[in-house]
Amino acid sequence: MSDIANPALSGKGRLRIEWAENHMPVLREIRARFTKEKPLKGMTVGACLHVTTETANLMIALRDGGAKVVLCASNPLSTQDDVAAALVEEGIDTYAIKGEDNDTYYKHLNAVLDAHPVITMDDGADLVSVLHSQREAQLAEVLAGTEETTTGVIRLRQMAAEGVLKFPIVAVNDTPTKHLFDNRWGTGQSTLDGITRATNILWASKTVVICGFGYGGRGLSSRARGLGAQVIVTEVDAVKALEATMEGFRVMPIADAARVGDVFITVTGDRDILRREHFELMKDGAILANTGHFDVEIDKPALKALAKSTREVREHVAEYVLDDDRRVYLLADGRLVNLAAAEGHPAVVMDMSFADQALSAEWVAKNHATLSKRVYDVPDEIDREVAKLKLATLGIEIDTLTPEQERYLSSWREGT
Ligand SMILES: NC(=O)c1ccc[n+]([C@@H]2O[C@H](COP(=O)([O-])OP(=O)(O)OC[C@H]3O[C@@H](n4cnc5c(N)ncnc54)[C@H](O)[C@@H]3O)[C@@H](O)[C@H]2O)c1
Repeated sequence: MSDIANPALSGKGRLRIEWAENHMPVLREIRARFTKEKPLKGMTVGACLHVTTETANLMIALRDGGAKVVLCASNPLSTQDDVAAALVEEGIDTYAIKGEDNDTYYKHLNAVLDAHPVITMDDGADLVSVLHSQREAQLAEVLAGTEETTTGVIRLRQMAAEGVLKFPIVAVNDTPTKHLFDNRWGTGQSTLDGITRATNILWASKTVVICGFGYGGRGLSSRARGLGAQVIVTEVDAVKALEATMEGFRVMPIADAARVGDVFITVTGDRDILRREHFELMKDGAILANTGHFDVEIDKPALKALAKSTREVREHVAEYVLDDDRRVYLLADGRLVNLAAAEGHPAVVMDMSFADQALSAEWVAKNHATLSKRVYDVPDEIDREVAKLKLATLGIEIDTLTPEQERYLSSWREGT
């Protein structure tokens, strides 16, 4: 069973999945080993991830590892319909249609849970959240889960702190080979790509306001500067604000930045970053985009309430005309712009994130009996293995410590 937009798109999807596979050498190696060893034999994996070419390669690797895999979208706008069609042809039950409404989104999520997964794989913790709030009877069947993104990990840590989390989760997001690369360089490049595809703006000379200087914000700021933009950063964390300042970015409150920005990008994982009082200050033609996980960073209801008219002026670009005739443009309805208006992260960076996912799934399949109901870090050996494999596929060699260096670094006795 599946629910997708158009099975006839499978040929195009297949070619695009193959293209991504060419740029995912680490996952390819893991898939080859999984095919031989079948570490997930007999297990059902329920995945709620952005349905992209890279995710398709992860699903295929898990299937080849012996799992029955069922997939739904982790965002109503991020599904690539051709990829969904190709996955169905691969025998992977897929429930995802680009632009699906909220009811369908949750219907699809429940369809994945109807398959009774013993391992969950989330991007934003929606599967885990529905299981805990609406399908408690099923909780005991689940051995463990994994989580892909910052926002999901925050929700799950909160559940663990409140003592309500009913199975162990591995926080894939928090491992260095994931967030140092995917969140930073992946989000940096693909977000600007999404905005460029939606608007065709020239970045050089634009004043770009980046809200949040975490991993995503760091990548975005440096990439926007590289394209010639003047970058302003807004933050609530003093250390991050200081770091942004030392990196050469202007740092100021959003109330000041609102007056001067040409493009605003939110990437905080927090809500109401751009609000009514900010829209009221913005220049005519200001462009607003979000690349944080949920569509709560830009206060859409407030923008709608302020507007005397709205219209779709290009694909993914909604024009809001305010009372004094200023126009504000909201991209992708405030949802992850890199996935809605472009293709998400390049495959070469998802290679590491999804290698972490595949190896974490294998790790929980092996170790679930000894794990407790909390959020675990990805074991260090997995992170190192992924980094080593990645370097090898890039043809990069590194030095190893000499025995003297090892001794020196593990001793406190030697000084000046
Ligand atoms: N678009 C994508 O493909 C993609 C990729 C990775 C992560 N994400 C999502 O992006 C969001 C950010 O992820 P991250 O890894 O950069 O998180 P992070 O925790 O490293 O950074 C978030 C930053 O936002 C700041 N912040 C919080 N509230 C703020 C406010 N009111 N004003 C200004 N700054 C504020 C925090 O201090 C922090 O520095 C999350 O929702 C995450 O799930 C999206």
